[in-house]
Amino acid sequence: MGATYPRECRIGSLVLSPPVTNASGFLATPPEYRRFSAYRGVGGVVGKTIVRLAKPGHETPVVVVKEDGSVLNAIGLAGPGVDEHAREMADFYPLHVPFIESVASEESADDAALVIRRLNGRYAAIELNISCPNVMKGMLAGQDPNLTSAYTAAAKNAARIKSVIVKLTPNVDDITEPGRAAADAGADALLVANTEKDTYINPHTNKPHLTNKTGGKSGRNIMENNLRRVEAIARMREAGGFKFKIGGVGGIAGAEDARKYFDAGADYIQVGTEFFLDRPLEIKRLTQPGLETVQEMLERMEAELYGRAA
Ligand SMILES: Cc1cc2nc3c(=O)[nH]c(=O)nc-3n(C[C@H](O)[C@H](O)[C@H](O)COP(=O)(O)O)c2cc1C
Repeated sequence: MGATYPRECRIGSLVLSPPVTNASGFLATPPEYRRFSAYRGVGGVVGKTIVRLAKPGHETPVVVVKEDGSVLNAIGLAGPGVDEHAREMADFYPLHVPFIESVASEESADDAALVIRRLNGRYAAIELNISCPNVMKGMLAGQDPNLTSAYTAAAKNAARIKSVIVKLTPNVDDITEPGRAAADAGADALLVANTEKDTYINPHTNKPHLTNKTGGKSGRNIMENNLRRVEAIARMREAGGFKFKIGGVGGIAGAEDARKYFDAGADYIQVGTEFFLDRPLEIKRLTQPGLETVQEMLERMEAELYGRAA
């Protein structure tokens, strides 16, 4: 019945089985990473993006849900900085499944490489975030192919034998241009894609609702665009004879969505904004039984994709 889907995805030495992880930013602390890593249907865990120094992020409001159901966020890469994170992580590593560290630098490729070295090897792979639309210069490295190339090469060098996944920005005319630059520089996988830059004008104030004014759009309304982007990257891989793997992320909330990404050319997928709906869900379902948590959705997705009883 229908196509069968790969039970695992190998990205160099990284094995995701099943080929499903969370998207960066929806789990933020080592205890959360550990807890999520024990869920059925999860093949890997991705950390929240880490930068070198501690950052408070933007002032609230940093998230808004638009009338059309899409989510706009401008968290601004808030976090404890790499050294504190590495200290906290030491007590929790390894997890039940491979842990992928997400790393960014607003400064330079060398600075991103320094962050990777400070992680002391406690990761299975690096996800290089060159695509955050919410910090100054956050996605510049993903928009300029020369910078994409420099960041990818520096990350590969710092991660040594571990794999580097490059998270692309959709905020370019042609995603295959930075995609090809990352592939030429040795990326083991390309992840399609980070959030779309957007704004939300509050109808009551007629002003941008987010303190940062603009944010990154995520959720179901970016899925169709990202499917086209995955197809474009898959065509570029084929035409160029590349071997990199493709990750698909954006709006996935179940097996049907996952299949669309696999059919478009993705080798693994990530679940993000669906998490947001999870927390109110815990409360909502007291009165609306039948609503699923992310944990239940992932279990069902695994059963539906691979035919195992949940
Ligand atoms: C609140 C929030 C925080 C995010 N934080 C990060 C982050 O730290 N690093 C990153 O690479 N992407 C981050 N993202 C983007 C997601 O990882 C993902 O690429 C995007 O949300 C699309 O997937 P989705 O529609 O399933 O959410 C964040 C998204 C949201 C909504």
